[in-house]
Amino acid sequence: MMPRVFAASLIVALIPVVSVVPLLAWGAEPRALDVRAERTVWDSVYTAAQASRGETLYVKSCARCHQVSLAGADESPPLTGGAFMGNWSGLPLADLQNRIRTTMPSDSVGIYNRQLVTDVMAYLLKANGFPAGATELPTDTEALRGIMMRASRP
Ligand code: HEC
Repeated sequence: MMPRVFAASLIVALIPVVSVVPLLAWGAEPRALDVRAERTVWDSVYTAAQASRGETLYVKSCARCHQVSLAGADESPPLTGGAFMGNWSGLPLADLQNRIRTTMPSDSVGIYNRQLVTDVMAYLLKANGFPAGATELPTDTEALRGIMMRASRP
């Protein structure tokens, strides 16, 4: 009598364990997909307000060399279009932030703070046709390491 009751209660006790296993597997799947999916400039990574702040800063800080049109002039390269995207597509936005922070303006390097550079980058993303969204582009370089420039929609 006792062993059979014990066996029955063991089976009852195992039911929740067995039924939870497929739930765990189901729960783990989307997380695994997220890890593989790459975040890119197509994922609405800046806000419209940030880009318009960035435009004002761009006109004040960058346009004297790169032109209001962003087309560049003399030694200053364009910051929109095929040549610009050709240089940056496939690289994380952290690289672009570092490039601007450590080499611009070319005649007095290092005067731009991180917020200014990041807001101007939001404007550059807008000017290159990438969509705005609900969250600002982060100023943190580590966070920008996780967002890839991609010339064409993945
Ligand atoms: C005094 C002129 C001057 C100013 C002001 C200036 N730049 Fe530049 N920029 C240059 C020159 C010249 C180059 C190319 C040579 C070099 O890298 O030094 C360049 C290169 C760049 C590049 C590299 C482009 C590429 O595709 O390789 C980026 C990005 C850039 N500038 C962004 C900016 C931004 C953003 C600002 C304003 C926050 C800015 N620059 C202000 C002169 C300037």
